[in-house]
Amino acid sequence: LISRAFRHHFIIPDFSDFTKYIEDFYWKCKSNSEGKLADYIPQLARTNPEHWGVSVCTIDGQRFSIGDVNIPFTLQSTSKPLTYGIALDQLTQEVVHQYVGQEPSGRNFNELVLDHNKKPHNPMINAGAIIICSLLKTLVHPEMTLAEKFDFTMDYFKRLAGGEYLGFNNAVFLSEREAADRNYALGFYMREHKCYPEKTVLKECMDFYFQCCSMEANCESVAVMAATLANGGICPVTEEKVLKPDAIRDVLSLMHSCGMYDYSGQFAFKVGLPAKSGVSGGMMIVIPNVMGICTWSPPLDKLGNSVRGVQFCEELVRVFNFHRY
Ligand code: DON
Repeated sequence: LISRAFRHHFIIPDFSDFTKYIEDFYWKCKSNSEGKLADYIPQLARTNPEHWGVSVCTIDGQRFSIGDVNIPFTLQSTSKPLTYGIALDQLTQEVVHQYVGQEPSGRNFNELVLDHNKKPHNPMINAGAIIICSLLKTLVHPEMTLAEKFDFTMDYFKRLAGGEYLGFNNAVFLSEREAADRNYALGFYMREHKCYPEKTVLKECMDFYFQCCSMEANCESVAVMAATLANGGICPVTEEKVLKPDAIRDVLSLMHSCGMYDYSGQFAFKVGLPAKSGVSGGMMIVIPNVMGICTWSPPLDKLGNSVRGVQFCEELVRVFNFHRY
């Protein structure tokens, strides 16, 4: 045990016992056939609703996966905590939060609404994430073209995932952009209220936002990303320091209060863990200082969260004492 401790292999001492429970939860949730696929992007509407995968990566690099863990899906809103983290890492909290708040909006993720300071409520909803994209484009290495900024961001995502699968789905990007009336409305509304840093080119900023949503990963690689967040910004697979601990603290705080759309309050109450969901049915769950988990099942509940993903989290904290409080 002592030698394991020195090798930092003591986080989940009985990992194989733990994984038996994960397997149980997996099968239990598999029989849940509630929920509906997101249909506002044709590519998402065509996904097989049966897909179901769960991957775990502990902060000392132990792994467990079950189900459809190697099939790629687009990150969608699970990219929001990542772009927010990069912005914090590059620009500091002080600069980032001149442009975006920290309050749950209590509304839908794409609601046409700003807070009383005329800023988007937080970086986990569309308006906030669009602003984060404009900060990344105009304030971080402003000399970079949009193409270079895409590579820069993708490289960050890859490092968060320890070099595991990270791709880009061009068909989703194109249809995302086609079906974007609401996002453009948000974009213009924020321009009217002078929400952006100077030199923001709205069209570029929107494209960048759609590109971030259209980055592709799988359960295995998202679990590593979640584990990097659980591990203070150091990837447990490569041991690279990808994000600063201060950035991680802010990302996890807002995932905790705002990560699950308009279910965030109930999720924080019942599950008590920072998490972020996306319309493709992926969920990134962080157990700080312990592990990262990714669940993926496309059918969504009325609030837009993966039905099986939410059920899995509820099963997890029913058996294990991971609720933060
Ligand atoms: O902006 C959109 O329409 C989506 N692609 C956003 C993705 C999503 O998961 C919803 N999130 N907050």
